[in-house]
Amino acid sequence: MGRIALRAGRSNIGNPSKMVMQNSKIVAINSVNQQRNYASPSQVNQMATPVDVKPEARAGRGSMQKVGGKDAVADILESVPRGSTANRPIYLDAQSTTPVDPRVLDAMMPFFTNQYGNPHSRTHAYGWESEAAVEEAREHVAKLIGADAKEIIFTSGATESNNMSLKGVARFYKQKKKHIITTQTEHKCVLDSARKLQDEGFEVTYLPVQTNGLIRMEDLEAALRPDTSVVSIMAVNNEIGVVQPIAEIGHLLKTKGAQLAKEGGLSGKPLFHTDGAQAAGKIELDVDKMGIDLMSLSSHKIYGPKGIGACYVRRRPRVRMDPIISGGGQERGLRSGTLAPPLVVGFGEAARLAYQEREYDYQHVSALAQRLRDRILAEIECVLVNGDPTGYPGCTNLSFQYVEGESLLMALKDICLSSGSACTSASLEPSYVLRALGLDDENAHSSLRFGIGRFTTEEEIDYVSEKIIKVVTRLRELSPLWEMVQDGIDLKTIEWSG
Ligand SMILES: Cc1ncc(COP(=O)(O)O)c(C=O)c1O
Repeated sequence: MGRIALRAGRSNIGNPSKMVMQNSKIVAINSVNQQRNYASPSQVNQMATPVDVKPEARAGRGSMQKVGGKDAVADILESVPRGSTANRPIYLDAQSTTPVDPRVLDAMMPFFTNQYGNPHSRTHAYGWESEAAVEEAREHVAKLIGADAKEIIFTSGATESNNMSLKGVARFYKQKKKHIITTQTEHKCVLDSARKLQDEGFEVTYLPVQTNGLIRMEDLEAALRPDTSVVSIMAVNNEIGVVQPIAEIGHLLKTKGAQLAKEGGLSGKPLFHTDGAQAAGKIELDVDKMGIDLMSLSSHKIYGPKGIGACYVRRRPRVRMDPIISGGGQERGLRSGTLAPPLVVGFGEAARLAYQEREYDYQHVSALAQRLRDRILAEIECVLVNGDPTGYPGCTNLSFQYVEGESLLMALKDICLSSGSACTSASLEPSYVLRALGLDDENAHSSLRFGIGRFTTEEEIDYVSEKIIKVVTRLRELSPLWEMVQDGIDLKTIEWSG
């Protein structure tokens, strides 16, 4: 019965009516009612709150700028329905998520419809074809980080991969090794996993960072202990774009880390886990050259679908860990559960494209970031650039001093950005990452993160720069604090009453 209904639904498009089973009777249905509501040029995807965006600054148009004589993005986007993205706010939040590349969506589609087999079904062609597609995707993901396909474990995303890496390793080695090292500027899911492990009796060292966001290698060296099981340090920070010295960390763990363990009568060096969610596809990563044992990856940060990611788990020498999900033993027994082939295939295609176009994307993003910074810094004074200048340029974090962050965001409703404040249930908290760099609450609150990506255009950057200049200038004109600064008063010397 289900099969007849499915067939009817599938072949319905274009047919006036179809026969389906209802209450054990075959009845005719009208195909008009069966049509699906995909976004299309005639079905414009309306915003809940329409905003006025200048026509020359449309989102998702692809860059007019040619880098290296190639205009790949504009070519790809020729086929994208303009109506679905026109008149929407400009998206500059690429660290939060990225749109699915149309080429990725194309690769995924057959696996939602015709090729729907369970990749773990071993007895028929539907299973085999899904499995083949999953394995091809695994190869693409592995290639992006210089790994072997067998070392890629598909998960639901970087949150799960970070959880499984920290908890899995710590719990496996718990009899002999009780110490974990991470940094104060990791993503919440690493910090929360570490806190959970503290509750279970593990000891955690949270390394501080310098004012530029980089850890000090001396601090890491001093923190290493014979019983350190895992060191988790992210490759690219999601708020300030800082790139940590991954290869140096890998080397230190193989040398000093291994030596300490040996002296303590324990086997093996501390394992090196890195959260690569913001790094893969953006900077070059090679697990062997960098001495990485575990790495978390996320598809939706590289123009793939949401809800899928991976954990790289080294095989030689083998990384041992307790799985956090139990079940049918899929994914080398480390992550049970049926894989989602459309998502896996999408992630694989996104990884393939990221590998192929990494240098082009990097040049595109750097040129736009430079343009944004140059324009803003030339026109507005008292702007702090947060994070080391050698960081990933697609994540540019600026504090507009003497401007209240909330007012800034309110005045920029036609631009989607993240700020240095995080909403908690009761109040606006300054970002813990910016606080770790030594920024005071005011400067953290007045910061904005500009997330530039593959589909950001020069026109969008110009529109955003102009708007920021106008808004910051206007807000400062209204600010008594700014007036005092102009009069040469040092605000730190003022004793505020009340
Ligand atoms: C550095 C970092 N780690 C982990 C995550 C979580 O990734 P996912 O959304 O795939 O769970 C993110 C996403 O915000 C991130 O930026």
